[in-house]
Amino acid sequence: MISNDMREGRKIETRGFNMIDFKVFFPNVVLSGECAIENIAGQVKRLNGKNVLILTDYNISKLPFMSVVEDLIKKNGFGVSIWNKVLPNPNLATVKEAIAFLNDNNCDLVVGIGGGSVLDTAKAVAVVSKNEMDIEKCLGLFNIKKRGFPLILVPTTSGTGSEATHISVLVDENTNQKVAIYSEYNMADAVIIDYRLTYDLPPNITAETGLDALTHAIEAFASKGANLLSDLFAINAIEMICGNIVNAYIKGNHDKDARKWMALGSFYAGIGFCSAGLGAAHGLAYPLIDYGLSHGRSVGIFLPWVMEYNLSFAKSKYAKISKALDKSFYAITESEAAEKSIDLIKKIIKNLGISYRLRDYGIKTKDLDDMAKNAFESSKRLLDFNPRDISLEDAQSIYKKAY
Ligand SMILES: [Fe+2]
Repeated sequence: MISNDMREGRKIETRGFNMIDFKVFFPNVVLSGECAIENIAGQVKRLNGKNVLILTDYNISKLPFMSVVEDLIKKNGFGVSIWNKVLPNPNLATVKEAIAFLNDNNCDLVVGIGGGSVLDTAKAVAVVSKNEMDIEKCLGLFNIKKRGFPLILVPTTSGTGSEATHISVLVDENTNQKVAIYSEYNMADAVIIDYRLTYDLPPNITAETGLDALTHAIEAFASKGANLLSDLFAINAIEMICGNIVNAYIKGNHDKDARKWMALGSFYAGIGFCSAGLGAAHGLAYPLIDYGLSHGRSVGIFLPWVMEYNLSFAKSKYAKISKALDKSFYAITESEAAEKSIDLIKKIIKNLGISYRLRDYGIKTKDLDDMAKNAFESSKRLLDFNPRDISLEDAQSIYKKAY
């Protein structure tokens, strides 16, 4: 079984690399704890920063903890400049504007504090500015030549796992397409996971970002690019997230333990999918953005339908998911256990108050084929990793089932 997985993985994983079974990137230092942010000045010092650029969005910049972070850095003798203009789905112009701000303020270390959009922007700003390249030339697989400015990432949601990956996802405003920088130099020099920053996330954000993390973990675990190391992170992420997502959603800041496991589960899922790749739930979900649905809700809608499509091709992995979540499934056959994994995921999504039916989001049946075609043509990179090959007709059939 392992050798088959590895063979499948080798075909995919060598993009940008030669003669390897798998690649895994890690941040240099990870600090995780309820008060982990207290260590931020120590990390600035370790990384030889003098003038810190904090990148964030407007709403986060107004939260009380931001002034605490600013004071922690300043009282240790470092300069701080704050740029709070990151918007959801950041584009190339956003990165260029932030780089101009970094240069104007002579900053030499970047701290990103926020959700995935902020962290993706921070990664791009640190690496593109130091390489003095046009951002357009940095897009794609491994085009960056050297390390960027030192980079510290501080996630404030438990979803994207961006703090754990080598990928900056951006939007090219000229073509309106998603583009990305893939580079080992995008990996953070320090990740600071302070659970307190997620305690007050509203329920809908908790549910939708958490579903994103869950989909990362399951798709990474079943991916054609899955490998021995990504599996360690992905299966642990699945356990952490499935065991805590509903409590985090219902109990909010009254269940700090659930928040902690969600923060760690999201990080683990990020390490897993960064190495293994994702799958068709991510590949098919993109067109739902046009209906105002968040990324997390969109991929969560497709997750059970894609698992059904993949079932006979990912039987062993799905059975392992069931058994990890419920030990009683050791008593049934592998096929039965694999099927149970889909029931477990559907139950979790329902308990988050989220429908996984496209009909509940104002989508018309006449639009399904075109949406599937649009997803299929723009997501080849993601669909390549799905455990079962997908044709355009398959994508259209999944869309119809999900209706
Ligand atoms: Fe995602």
